Amino acid sequence: MSSEATLPQPVLLEINDLQVRYPVGSLLSRLAGGPREVSVLPGTSLRIGPGETLGLIGESGSGKTTLGRAAIGLTPISAGNIRIGQDVTSMAGARIWDRMRRGVGLMFQDPVAALNPRMKIGRSVTEPLVIHGALTGDRRAKAVELLAQVGLTEGFADRYPHEVSGGQARRATVARALALKPALVIADEPTAGLDLSVQGELLNLLNDLQARLGISFLMITHNLAVARHVTDRIAIMYLGRIVETGPTAELFARPAHPYTRALLGARGRPDRAQPPLEGEVPSLARRPRGCEFNTRCPLATDRCRAAAPEQRSPARGRLVTCHRAEELMAAPQ
Ligand SMILES: Nc1ncnc2c1ncn2[C@@H]1O[C@H](COP(=O)(O)OP(=O)(O)OP(=O)(O)O)[C@@H](O)[C@H]1O
Ligand code: SF4
Ligand SMILES: [Mg+2]
Repeated sequence: MSSEATLPQPVLLEINDLQVRYPVGSLLSRLAGGPREVSVLPGTSLRIGPGETLGLIGESGSGKTTLGRAAIGLTPISAGNIRIGQDVTSMAGARIWDRMRRGVGLMFQDPVAALNPRMKIGRSVTEPLVIHGALTGDRRAKAVELLAQVGLTEGFADRYPHEVSGGQARRATVARALALKPALVIADEPTAGLDLSVQGELLNLLNDLQARLGISFLMITHNLAVARHVTDRIAIMYLGRIVETGPTAELFARPAHPYTRALLGARGRPDRAQPPLEGEVPSLARRPRGCEFNTRCPLATDRCRAAAPEQRSPARGRLVTCHRAEELMAAPQ
């Protein structure tokens, strides 16, 4: 079934068949005929609707950060297209990424990259406005206004990142991501490393901002409890491909892809002990034939090893890339 029928309409951000490759191996190994590059995103598609929070979940190394960075031009793409309102990849040169970076705010996964340690927080949060020539009026006054939006008082504008707590620094990165009034914020592991109570405060802040400003979020997270409570829809990534998407409550209640089932645990309860996902993650340089999950899938058949599954929609709003999707949706776990 066409994905058009089951994904949010209208669409704010649309990523189609995005490909990203990274160089690998030493010069010697390349001269000996080894691989020169690996395909981290082998043709990845994703959509986000206006005001929607989409959770992106997958094991470490599956390509989540790469997708977020590629979506705003921080990582070069080798094929595919990205639309935010219009097709930005068909625009000329620098205009493409200027448009993307204005429309999309990024909260970096790496806290060191998020705020310049040698820059006062007030300057960091207003930096995107300066870079894009969008600063009007007094820079410090703008910093104070942006910081107030995330619950930080004026004094934080004059502090350095090492002078504030982890939660306060994370709030400042939210302020920076909002500086250009984006339609979408990509939040890469926004709660990682924070105490539970601080995590809760930050998630409440993001919820409030969404309700107040109507922005969409792409929430990249390892934390299934966070994903369950703050997202409208979930996308599950394996080896750079989205293997399942669906409304959050339905996906947690009835995960259809065997990989999703393994990630969420036998009863789809991330708060309970989960059985470990067995087997090694395959090397990106040697992707398995057929279904790429077949080397770890307890339900794999000969068909899975021979042919890659097409994406299908076993229920309204659900997209699953598995030969056995309908059968699994019907079967209790
Ligand atoms: N600059 C780079 N050069 C070469 N390989 C890279 C680069 N950045 C990432 N990779 C590789 O690309 C793959 C995907 O990395 P990515 O950081 O996107 O994963 P992730 O899903 O965000 O992981 P995590 O959950 O640990 O943050 C990994 O195999 C990683 O080693
Ligand atoms: S297609 Fe086969 S190997 Fe792949 S996830 Fe489905 S059952 Fe498992
Ligand atoms: Mg990452």
